[in-house]
Amino acid sequence: MKSLNVGSIKSSNHSKYYNFNKSLSNSDLVSEIIRLKKEKNAILLAHYYQSPEIQEIADFLGDSLYLAQCAAKISADIIILAGVHFMAETAKIINPSKIVLIPDLKAGCSLADSCPPEDFKKFINNYPDAVVVTYINCSAEVKALSDIVCTSSNAIKVISSIPKNKTIIFAPDRNLGQYLIKETGRNMILWDGACMVHEAFSLERIITLAKKYPKAKFIAHPESTSPILDIANFIGSTSALLRYIETDSSNTYIVATESGILHQMKKSRPNKIFIPAPVQDETCACSECAFMKLNTLEKLYNCLLNESPQIKLNRDLISRSKISIDRMLALS
Ligand code: 13P
Ligand code: SF4
Repeated sequence: MKSLNVGSIKSSNHSKYYNFNKSLSNSDLVSEIIRLKKEKNAILLAHYYQSPEIQEIADFLGDSLYLAQCAAKISADIIILAGVHFMAETAKIINPSKIVLIPDLKAGCSLADSCPPEDFKKFINNYPDAVVVTYINCSAEVKALSDIVCTSSNAIKVISSIPKNKTIIFAPDRNLGQYLIKETGRNMILWDGACMVHEAFSLERIITLAKKYPKAKFIAHPESTSPILDIANFIGSTSALLRYIETDSSNTYIVATESGILHQMKKSRPNKIFIPAPVQDETCACSECAFMKLNTLEKLYNCLLNESPQIKLNRDLISRSKISIDRMLALS
């Protein structure tokens, strides 16, 4: 076996020694991650918003729904979720006997953060007869307060499954909520949350870019704001956007979602042109989700090596939050 340039450090809170990587090259990190996955019987699930090098070594790569469906079927001992915290938490809820690792515990989500459980509880208590539908981008506590979860892939199906005479609360994304109101014709009470990445796109700059590329199609994720969605040729989840560019006959696309998806688009259709939709602040890389990009190959390697950080949830929270996720999985 190749000798590694690793050291060890004692955590201030634990009596355990943690190994850490000092200076492995990216290709060494990739080889070591692959070796450790095999040795530890671990499966790597990654979201499309991860960096290309993480996407390339994933055992399963996909959108939020696909990752949840994969988590349900995994029989390996360890699940590493290269995505954000709510995705890893969902995997733990779905398959609680597994060790679930996330490369960086701080990989949160602005949308999940926009819905604190205590405030949400007070909010839904105002509508005791309403059916509470929550987007999967929320905490386990919020899922436990919900009747059914959805993702951007199945949100229309989930809303349409609710009897017409029922009032619906939709949380936490007001933009996806507004889109669903338009698509389903259902009147819903919306929680006022949003994703900082999808709210950053600039309508004016997208229109200017579209004039420069008159044959380009403009495609967008439904977390984008209404004025952006109003001018889109196609709206869909990350996997739906990917399927669209694979079957559509155009050559050029302006893409309004996190720019990580462009890696799979370019891989799948190398002769086509994909342009990330411009954001309001020209000086920032705001079409990158800073939370998603906290995960790196090095953190992935260290988390697998040390089996830390792990997602820990108490049994009661797992059983309360699982109900709303299971309802979604049964419908999907
Ligand atoms: P998808 O469910 O389309 O993968 O979206 C997840 C997400 O976080 C969008 O910002
Ligand atoms: Fe959350 Fe937005 Fe990042 Fe998706 S892109 S994980 S919704 S902050």
